[in-house]
Amino acid sequence: MSIGQFPFTRMRRIRLKSFARDLCRESMLTANDLILPMFVIEGRGKTEPIASMPGVCRHSIDVLITHAKKAHALGIPAVAIFPVISKNKKSLDAKAAWDAKGLVPEAIKAIKKEIPSLGVITDIALDPYTSHGQDGLLNRSGEIMNDETVDALVKQALCHAKAGADIVAPSDMMDGRIGAIREALESHGFKDTMILAYSAKYASSFYGPFRDAVGSKAALGKGSKHTYQMDPANGVEALREIALDIDEGADIVMVKPGLPYLDIIRRARDAFQIPIFAYNVSGEYSMIKAASQNGWLDEQSVVLESLTAFKRAGANAILTYHAMEAAKWLK
Ligand code: PBG
Repeated sequence: MSIGQFPFTRMRRIRLKSFARDLCRESMLTANDLILPMFVIEGRGKTEPIASMPGVCRHSIDVLITHAKKAHALGIPAVAIFPVISKNKKSLDAKAAWDAKGLVPEAIKAIKKEIPSLGVITDIALDPYTSHGQDGLLNRSGEIMNDETVDALVKQALCHAKAGADIVAPSDMMDGRIGAIREALESHGFKDTMILAYSAKYASSFYGPFRDAVGSKAALGKGSKHTYQMDPANGVEALREIALDIDEGADIVMVKPGLPYLDIIRRARDAFQIPIFAYNVSGEYSMIKAASQNGWLDEQSVVLESLTAFKRAGANAILTYHAMEAAKWLK
């Protein structure tokens, strides 16, 4: 018998006592790994619950600040802001997306004034601002115009950078947008603004609750995003997307959604020397919430297990609607 075999090898020895489990643990989750996505609405003193995301609310800027302060105090390094734009500000050309007095620039300024050391990440995409809910501008036959959309995204990114965003995060999946945004930031004096590229963003049905939250679902109707977001069946293509975005000047890349795509995170981790963030999206949040509310799952242990799985797969940080709760549990 070789000494590699039972009973010489007993895998359970290192699991028997908790001190040994502590010493042998390979991945570690802390509040420093978490990013809190936040939905912002117009007005003052406003909080609106989101039916399909129990526990998540849309807040006006003043209330948002209170929550951002709590997140910061819990050790969460950054927030990602997503605007809910009223119907009368949505248009075919999405011009509210680069309005210097818009909701997002105002939110950035308020957070940076009140909590300067909290990182602010903004979404670069047109879907909250287009009357049809697509991330891109449409031509007369209803097709997404890639290059015209990139021009609009550049204006949006510059607008957010001017307002003080630390990281701009293009989530639109147009071709060439990372290079165009990088060049514009550089030539306008924003050499330190980071780009978090949603490089491997899939055409996923797990975004459903988010589209409720920002009100793009009704606008989108039966429209789909399959001509720009990736086919969930593809992995090699994700690596190609990531390589291109790194080449174009991304500082950090994103894989989205999260749990069903851990294989992509791992493959990217093995292939590239760059920080990788993962987006544990709305549908993933709502599944765990719903099951927990029914008493079918233990929320705390399921959430911490899931978030640890992202670390094991190789993610540096995780955007998650569970960030506040997880940070409290990790204390
Ligand atoms: C839009 C955007 C989406 C999400 C983040 N930015 C939705 C979409 O692409 O339709 C989804 C996030 C989530 O589901 O939590 N650019």
